[in-house]
Amino acid sequence: MGSTAKFEIDGKTVELPVLRGTDGPAVVDIRKLYAEADVFTYDPGFMSTASCESKITFIDGDAGILLHRGYPIMELAEQSSFLEVCYLLLHGELPTAPQFEEFEHNITYHTMIHEQFDRFFMGFRRDAHPMAIMTGAVGALSAFYHDSTNVNDPAQRMISAHRMIAKMPTIAARAFKYSRGQPFVFPRNELSYAENFLRMCFSVPAEDWVPNPVLTKAMDRIFILHADHEQNASTSTVRLAGSSGANPFACIAAGIASLWGPKHGGANEECLNMLMEIGTVDKIPEFVQGVKDRRYLLMGFGHRVYKNYDPRATVMQKTCHEVLAEVGAGNDPILQVAIELEKVALSDPYFVERKLYPNVDFYSGITLRALGFPPEMFTVLFALARTVGWIAQWKEMIEDPSQKIGRPRQIYTGAPARSFVSVDKR
Ligand code: ACO
Repeated sequence: MGSTAKFEIDGKTVELPVLRGTDGPAVVDIRKLYAEADVFTYDPGFMSTASCESKITFIDGDAGILLHRGYPIMELAEQSSFLEVCYLLLHGELPTAPQFEEFEHNITYHTMIHEQFDRFFMGFRRDAHPMAIMTGAVGALSAFYHDSTNVNDPAQRMISAHRMIAKMPTIAARAFKYSRGQPFVFPRNELSYAENFLRMCFSVPAEDWVPNPVLTKAMDRIFILHADHEQNASTSTVRLAGSSGANPFACIAAGIASLWGPKHGGANEECLNMLMEIGTVDKIPEFVQGVKDRRYLLMGFGHRVYKNYDPRATVMQKTCHEVLAEVGAGNDPILQVAIELEKVALSDPYFVERKLYPNVDFYSGITLRALGFPPEMFTVLFALARTVGWIAQWKEMIEDPSQKIGRPRQIYTGAPARSFVSVDKR
């Protein structure tokens, strides 16, 4: 017999089951609360509410732990590859060599996009934000690949997963090329996932992209760091959109829209802009004072779940130093600002008391800039990498027999029922 929690209201006691996962706090199952006690619960921002059961990712925010299918992010970032992590997230286990070979082949051979799809980009203004292009273009995938939109068919679900993981770099690179006014570059099957993406972004007809193993490894690791992060805003958006039975391409487009916000995936762009605005180390005290006066936020700091160092930030910081050294920018003044700002914030009581630590975005902007990407591409890269997490979570939800359409309740505080008054009497 599992334990129960007692809930008392208006002299009535309701006994509620307490559920326990592999790790993390116990969860009071309130599904029957409304039926038995005629009350709702109120939890804007889901501060204490688990919205689903999941076997994919676990975070212990106090300890700074992030596990994918049980494996620590640090080990995956150092010993695995992005495509292997994709397989792990989608299938639950690390692949054997033949399984990986088949998976890699499937992804590689889905990287092309329908020729007509390219015309879609031409409808956007040249100065459109690439995230605006991503939201529209990914939503349009369902118009091109409707043979994999039946959410009730497991084979179609897997094909749509492969298609999205494979095509996202091609679409993201096109969004980048379009904004630069450069011709699109087609994928090449002999290249790895990260190499292919970098080449599609940085190759031009006049000069081919020159592979660099340090930069390719860094790109792959950045993808790993962003692959999944349990029930964050964009993932919850994907699950909610998918709970109605909407097709996977539409659901991922909804996730991209949610990710764009500056409090979520848009923070990496905002963070680099912030560091560049600060500009020099001597301006840090004045900037920090502005944060403490609540005039603005310290971007790249703080997290709803992590009340400790974000483990992804540790890997990102190391990758940042490697990339900057490789491109000969080890003395980049913006990196010096970041290092000093982190030091100042981590020793200031304002940040210490609120348990504000660097998150993955603090060093990602500087790293991506050194790789050659402009700030408006940062969130696009995040979306590219997070696609596998979104699709794994979406698939898990569809395959969960207890899945229901998502439909939150509310406290209504508007006008009570009243009669319509015709305009001449108002
Ligand atoms: N700078 C300054 N103060 C902050 C920051 C910050 N970055 N983050 C939180 N605080 C303060 C809040 O003002 C609040 O102070 P108070 O208790 O005195 O009112 C306290 O810390 C708690 O913050 P909340 O807003 O309650 O924390 P919440 O969990 O709602 O927010 C969030 C988390 C949105 C990430 C927030 O920390 C933030 O906006 N950070 C900056 C944006 C950012 O870097 N986002 C990336 C997140 S990671 C990702 O999506 C990949």
